[in-house]
Amino acid sequence: MTTISKKSTINNNDNLVLLCNKNNSFNNCGLSKHEIDFVKNEISKKDKKSVCVNQLNRLVMIQLIDVKPAPATGGKEKHLTIEALRKAASNIHSWIIDAKIESVSIVDADNKPLEVLAFAEGLALSNYQFLKYKKDKAKEEYSLKTISVVSKNATPKQIEELNIVVEATCISRTLVNEPVNFLTATQLSKEFQKLGKASGFNVEVFNKEKIKALKMGGLLSVNLGSVEPPTFSIMEYKPKNAKNKQPIILVGKGVVYDTGGLSLKPTANSMDMMKCDMAGAAAVAGTMYAIAKAKLPVYVIGLVPATDNRPGGNAYVPGDVITMYNGMTVEMLNADAEGRMILADALAYAQKYNPKLVIDLATLTGAAVAAIGTSGIVAMGTADEKTKDKLKQSGNNVFERLAEMPFWDDYDEMIKSDIADMKNLGGPYAGSITAGKFLARYIHYPWMHLDIAGPAFLTAKDSYRVKGGTGVGVRLLFDYFKNNA
Ligand code: BES
Ligand code: MN
Ligand code: ZN
Repeated sequence: MTTISKKSTINNNDNLVLLCNKNNSFNNCGLSKHEIDFVKNEISKKDKKSVCVNQLNRLVMIQLIDVKPAPATGGKEKHLTIEALRKAASNIHSWIIDAKIESVSIVDADNKPLEVLAFAEGLALSNYQFLKYKKDKAKEEYSLKTISVVSKNATPKQIEELNIVVEATCISRTLVNEPVNFLTATQLSKEFQKLGKASGFNVEVFNKEKIKALKMGGLLSVNLGSVEPPTFSIMEYKPKNAKNKQPIILVGKGVVYDTGGLSLKPTANSMDMMKCDMAGAAAVAGTMYAIAKAKLPVYVIGLVPATDNRPGGNAYVPGDVITMYNGMTVEMLNADAEGRMILADALAYAQKYNPKLVIDLATLTGAAVAAIGTSGIVAMGTADEKTKDKLKQSGNNVFERLAEMPFWDDYDEMIKSDIADMKNLGGPYAGSITAGKFLARYIHYPWMHLDIAGPAFLTAKDSYRVKGGTGVGVRLLFDYFKNNA
């Protein structure tokens, strides 16, 4: 973990990143006249936004704040400027690592604290590694250990919250990166218990017997092909000063591995990343961790149904009719549409808390990836417009953007079954929406469904979103709770 702290003075051997605009004179930045000429030339003649001066005892790196023009919709350019800085930090991270630097100070030379914090965020997130299974960890470990922010107007609270959300995002990434031969459903619930202890939320875990007693037919049927038992975890954070009486509930898909079950995924490529099928669960746990650590005044409950999805002697088969937790029946026609089966039980279970709002996060459909790729989250639901707008605003703030899908009645037709209350398979089109429509049959409260199948796991690095688990959802939800507590 990289720690970010506030610092008020800089020493003349500190590695620096100066965040400034192109008219900065660089006079008091510890640069010689020759170096200043070099920097100005790089900026004006070569149109560079980032310049590195190697003073041999340290690096002085200049990063211009590149104010993005407002898009045609008008006036909302700020988040684009902020995101450009997170991305710039990822490039500068590679300079820092090449030079084997351990600490760096980010200097707010243009009095733009939010921009400086965003840069620090991008740098810290770029510094994430998953080295647990490497024998020679020390050799591969990045050199960067501490990031200092030198900014009069960045508050200690902002820096504290930034540290927390970065740590929580990295925790979520690590959960996603853990393979199923370690991270079974049982282990996942143990990880939640550790996180609850470390940050201050309660965790209760239902075992298979309890899940059977509750008749969670969706979760149990997906688990039939597995030799590992399912778990159902309940995380609760209820501070005395909570602003909301009715809880906000986060539901995360916890399929610790998705083979497709008897509707086996084709082995070439499509299964390789399916340890990421619990990224929704990881996002929920990471968010719980962050809000508890930051002591946000919100009452939040996290629910995670967890199992792997495998073929096996007793596995559920296409054609089976399953009675779900709420008593509804599902004609199961594709064992690979397992996410909705386990989420439906959790969503129905959420009802007993009389929630104010329920948000589920799930790597639910390939159709979501087909629709918008890895750039954002496919969203839909029944929450009011104000709630949707706030979530979208948070999505822009942290650049985990939401693309809302239509949720017309037409799609309900596509999951009708001849013999049961619904089927778990839609038609050939609108796959992410029919999956959402399936879930909608289990809710009687304001609800948002976030399909994170695209952005949850990257097969190639995308600046500060490193290869592998991204921790998507944590920064989004933390921002949402922070701004709307
Ligand atoms: N876990 C997958 C969805 C997924 C795809 C996640 C790509 C991450 C990346 C999900 O369980 C699934 O298999 N969905 C099927 C549903 C279909 C059978 C109706 C799909 O999208 O193909
Ligand atoms: Mn599947
Ligand atoms: Zn799945």
